[in-house]
Amino acid sequence: MRSTPGRTLWVIMWLSACSGPDAGSSGPGSRGEFGAASSDRGEVSFLRHCSICHGARGDGRGPRAGSLSSTPRDFTNPVWREGQKPEDIFRIITDGLTGTAMPAWGPSLGPSERWDLVAYVLDVARE
Ligand code: HEC
Repeated sequence: MRSTPGRTLWVIMWLSACSGPDAGSSGPGSRGEFGAASSDRGEVSFLRHCSICHGARGDGRGPRAGSLSSTPRDFTNPVWREGQKPEDIFRIITDGLTGTAMPAWGPSLGPSERWDLVAYVLDVARE
């Protein structure tokens, strides 16, 4: 499933959707695409926005991790992944975690991009 022929197309579509004026509105089917393609798009977004703290592999060892007051989670730990609900992760990405370095991404990333990030974060432990 990982290397479907549509994958490159999805990345292109994601990139163009991202720069559109509607990027912040809740588009249709943001949840329905939750799957391998969603996770692949999430990886692109993760590397751009999150890896500085969470690490390029999601292991919590980004270049900035050492200077933060609280350590970013190691998403590659299957034990962490066990207890996670996608809805909760979506909420954390949207609103951030008050009192920690984890920023709110709701204002800057559209809902489908945030769902892609949820898919990716839940996927890294499996790889
Ligand atoms: C400035 C550094 C920083 C950036 C950038 C950042 N985070 Fe975080 N994030 C953190 C820290 C620190 C925590 C841990 C907070 C705590 O639990 O004390 C965290 C926690 C989280 C959690 C909760 C994990 C858990 O269950 O404990 C998720 C999910 C998350 N981040 C996703 C993301 C995503 C997705 C992005 C990119 C869109 C991102 N973060 C960008 C610093 C960052």
